[in-house]
Amino acid sequence: NGEGEAPAALLGFTAVPVSSADVISVPEGYSTQVLVPYGTPIAGDFPSYSINSTGEDQAFQMGNHHDGMHFFAIDGSSEDGLLVMNHEYIEPRFMHARAAGVALGSGGVPPLIDGARPADEVLKEMNAHGVSVVRIVKGVNNEWQVQPDMRNRRITALTPMTLQGPVRGTDFVKTLYSPNGTMTRGTLNNCGNGVTPWNTYMAAEENWAGYFRTDDVDRREFDRYGIRPGGTGRYGWELADSAADQYVRFDASSTGASAEEDYRNEPVCFGWMVEIDPTDPDSVPVKRTALGRFGHEGVVFAPAVEGRPVVCYSGDDSQFEYIYKFVSAGNFNANTASGSLLDSGVLYVAKFNDDGSGEWLPLVFGMNGLTPANGFVSQADVLVNTRLAADMMGATPMDRPEWGAVDPANGDVYFTLTNNSSRSEDQTNGANPRATNRHGHIIRWAEEGGDHAALTFNWDIFLFGGDSGESGVETNIGFDPNGDRLTADNILSSPDGMWIDPDSRVWIQMDSGATDPFGNCAMLAADPNTGELKRFLVGPVGNEITGVITTPDQKTMFINVQHPGGTTSSANFAAGNYTSSWPDNNPAQFPPRSSTVVIWKDDGGVIGS
Ligand code: FEO
Ligand code: CA
Ligand code: CA
Ligand code: CA
Repeated sequence: NGEGEAPAALLGFTAVPVSSADVISVPEGYSTQVLVPYGTPIAGDFPSYSINSTGEDQAFQMGNHHDGMHFFAIDGSSEDGLLVMNHEYIEPRFMHARAAGVALGSGGVPPLIDGARPADEVLKEMNAHGVSVVRIVKGVNNEWQVQPDMRNRRITALTPMTLQGPVRGTDFVKTLYSPNGTMTRGTLNNCGNGVTPWNTYMAAEENWAGYFRTDDVDRREFDRYGIRPGGTGRYGWELADSAADQYVRFDASSTGASAEEDYRNEPVCFGWMVEIDPTDPDSVPVKRTALGRFGHEGVVFAPAVEGRPVVCYSGDDSQFEYIYKFVSAGNFNANTASGSLLDSGVLYVAKFNDDGSGEWLPLVFGMNGLTPANGFVSQADVLVNTRLAADMMGATPMDRPEWGAVDPANGDVYFTLTNNSSRSEDQTNGANPRATNRHGHIIRWAEEGGDHAALTFNWDIFLFGGDSGESGVETNIGFDPNGDRLTADNILSSPDGMWIDPDSRVWIQMDSGATDPFGNCAMLAADPNTGELKRFLVGPVGNEITGVITTPDQKTMFINVQHPGGTTSSANFAAGNYTSSWPDNNPAQFPPRSSTVVIWKDDGGVIGS
């Protein structure tokens, strides 16, 4: 800016209105493109997508339910890079031709045949999970396309992975597949992501517990995670008409004499953060057990400081669960840093005091009651049973912690707390002040002295979701973070995905079942200094917006549209009437598909400016 000129507003676009249309809406002056929808071939012999694609085809195609995502620039380019994304879960009814027009079974799967699921359907569903690595390049008219590349790869529910950190090799993770407890197979329900200071990708395992069934009662490693006796797994994978252990393992009952004879420990091999090196197609993904086992929504790293520990934050997205941070034992060195920094250190859980202060409570075996007298026998035990350990410490139960983000300008840490309809009046606290919190809020904190490894912090609430009539939220911390901020330009519900760009724009993404008055799920941008908040994008019907990153020059943004048409009722599904036909607009041939959306400014400017 020249002398005397007012600085340009951080948010330079005109807000888009609430919308219930089956399209992507962006501000005037912006354009979009659909990229890599579910089923797009990216590797192998590039099998083209159809509803009849096989389980084997799916291993070379984009998975379902796009979620957290990062753009790894090749040689710093903003026009050529590896797009890496999670595929959180699946919508089986939109994946199998056999589902059309019939009454679906539990989990929305096509009906069982003689009490079993066809193995190829199950294989297709497993291969639709996990992570995709796909090279994309920018071509003419700002449009991007898939580029065949050796690094293009699918990581799925079947990909071999190593276990590292304190749980590696312990009895907790000894399985038929890996009798010495050093390996496991596959990753599940990868929701949010993270990027390490050494530029690898982290995929979170969130709602993995539901994929398993058991007959075992009172399994300590199961109970606190919601794996209860009876029923079937989420999609009935254990019911495949095949005796192959890749299917049978989803029944985690103790049926043999030892863990090496049955699948009792398979669920203990999930609930971790998984590190992936997208630049090496032969690299084996690593589950980093020192970061704890829970419903990891994602992970966000503090900016690495030379000679200081590496610090990252992760939320456990379930009602009344906690926010954690990991501080490495070793110090960061830009020349030598690697994932092994994540294998030793201290995992802490957050306590938010009502006076606006906060503490990080260490989850260390032998300390503060994490002892044999209370059932903890080792650090591996503390990590396998992270939720139980955090309960013991008196951590603050939160309103479903989802994504975190760090403001590069001042190090403030932001976390979305998406909603918690189960919180009663007598369960409210300063950090979670609303009973029946339907619309969620965003909390933020500053670590003591600006040091991310500090043990204390100061927090406030950045934003409450809600409609314009709900702006005057009473909190027991004595301030109203919304004031008159919520208007037609920015009402929102259930903040979930979040990212703070290099200019400190806070990008906030909705995952809301509520429609009226919020319309379809949207993405907003906030100015963390002024509190200004504007709606930037609205997605198609029945979707959630999740995953957000730009190219290094900030001139191309990628976001994901997950589960368009997810609001289709069973009756309408049976009749072939989906609530959305996005993005193909060809419902006879294509059910709605999760997809990435590319966004650019027509004048070539920075997104959001
Ligand atoms: Fe997968 Fe918590 O959203
Ligand atoms: Ca999410
Ligand atoms: Ca969510
Ligand atoms: Ca989701």
